[in-house]
Amino acid sequence: MSDRFLEFSQTAFGKQLSGLLGLPSPPRLRRATGGYAEQPLAGRAVMVGTAPTATMANPIVGALGGTGAELFVAPDHGGLAPVKAAAHEQGLVLKGDSGEGFSPNALVFDASGIDSAGGLRTLYDFMQPRVSRLSAHGRVIVITRALGSDGSVGERTAAAALRGFVRSLGKEIGRKGSTVNLLVVAGGGETNLAGVLRFFLSEHSAFVTGQVLEVGASQLVAKAYSGQLAGKLALVTGAARGIGASIAQTLAREGAQVIGMDRPQEEGALGETMGRIGGRGLALDVTAKDAGDRILSECGPLDVIVHNAGVTRDKMLRNMAPHLWDMVLDINLGSIMRINERLAGDGFKPGARVVCISSIGGIAGNVGQTNYGATKAGIIGYVDALAPEFAKRGGAINAVAPGFIETQMTAAMPLMNREVGRRLNSLSQGGLPIDIAEAVTFFASSLSTGVNGQTLRVCGQSFIGA
Ligand SMILES: NC(=O)c1ccc[n+]([C@@H]2O[C@H](COP(=O)([O-])OP(=O)(O)OC[C@H]3O[C@@H](n4cnc5c(N)ncnc54)[C@H](O)[C@@H]3O)[C@@H](O)[C@H]2O)c1
Repeated sequence: MSDRFLEFSQTAFGKQLSGLLGLPSPPRLRRATGGYAEQPLAGRAVMVGTAPTATMANPIVGALGGTGAELFVAPDHGGLAPVKAAAHEQGLVLKGDSGEGFSPNALVFDASGIDSAGGLRTLYDFMQPRVSRLSAHGRVIVITRALGSDGSVGERTAAAALRGFVRSLGKEIGRKGSTVNLLVVAGGGETNLAGVLRFFLSEHSAFVTGQVLEVGASQLVAKAYSGQLAGKLALVTGAARGIGASIAQTLAREGAQVIGMDRPQEEGALGETMGRIGGRGLALDVTAKDAGDRILSECGPLDVIVHNAGVTRDKMLRNMAPHLWDMVLDINLGSIMRINERLAGDGFKPGARVVCISSIGGIAGNVGQTNYGATKAGIIGYVDALAPEFAKRGGAINAVAPGFIETQMTAAMPLMNREVGRRLNSLSQGGLPIDIAEAVTFFASSLSTGVNGQTLRVCGQSFIGA
């Protein structure tokens, strides 16, 4: 489904008319055109700053050093010393911000150690003079530490303040296709920053903005980045079309051997999709009582499973027949729990990754979607509850919550609802299936090592449910 207004507003006449009428002018997002690169930021300028009290300059500078980015510092900023010391220790060259004409591709700020309202001034001092010089399609990342209940009142207040800062800045810079996200590092998660930063600083995260992700410790640390999933066996449910087909394709791009699963009546479409990506089809309904057994007998133990199959059957609760409730609950939630339960143990290889597809409908709720909303919110609780089990075997379970994505599902919406869904986010447009596929692939790969039990919204910072 194409977004005609976005196409029109990119023309010279469209730009002029949108300006005159005060309409939003959605930027054409810059998305990745290939797989993960060893040096995804080669030739890009990344400015690094820290709070004077910051404690993560070393891992941040080290992580950025491996991306090929040119690292810049602000000579006049109070938090210069920790960055300089880190770069010196790691033998990395820092350049000075050359002033007016300089347009960085990214701003990265270590806000750890801030413990007062006054301390937040250092964040302002770093960002304020530079944000208007950030290049189009730029990236802003703020990094802080996770605070348990042992954090001081000042620290916990400042940590919460960072969320408000990021969410507000996202709404300011989105019109240029730029994004801003907050990374919260839990004990030992510093070693996993490299992979996570690669995702958030690159075009693989074009539709992710205004979000918070926690990065913790893990047994495995990413070493190589390209061909991430080579030799891995990945199964994607609902893979015949839409978001599932894109997920299958993106996992294959990173080298995975993909098995696409869909309902028997979709066997033809599934075969075509799998044929395009060199994958294998499995015609099987997720709700079949023996689905887990069939997956195991036909595929063997999996490295990755993506629970993408999902349906809507919208009705106001007062008019919702029991079969509509049961159907949506079983496809979108019950089957996921049954299949995972069967695969737990011999059906998952050590280090297995599970990714479930939630929805902002499960966060904000929608009229007529008590069934759908319950399942998609249930997924958020489910991945949180199961995370410790997966961590024990070096794996992870996470969820992606799409906002408005251009698919057959959303093409069927009434025009006005569709326009509202599309425009009401910081990037003024709907996402594409590839945006969800990129986030799923991030969770399936070692770029996200240390991220477990979380739900990442991929919604352009949708104003609904914010
Ligand atoms: N499109 C959006 O804007 C959006 C937003 C939020 C969440 N989502 C979620 O993303 C996922 C994919 O959505 P989509 O827009 O690509 O939907 P879609 O309807 O285009 O595709 C869904 C696929 O799942 C398959 N499927 C349905 N029931 C199945 C079953 N019982 N067993 C096996 N396969 C089954 C369908 O045949 C289809 O191929 C869903 O979980 C949906 O809830 C989509």
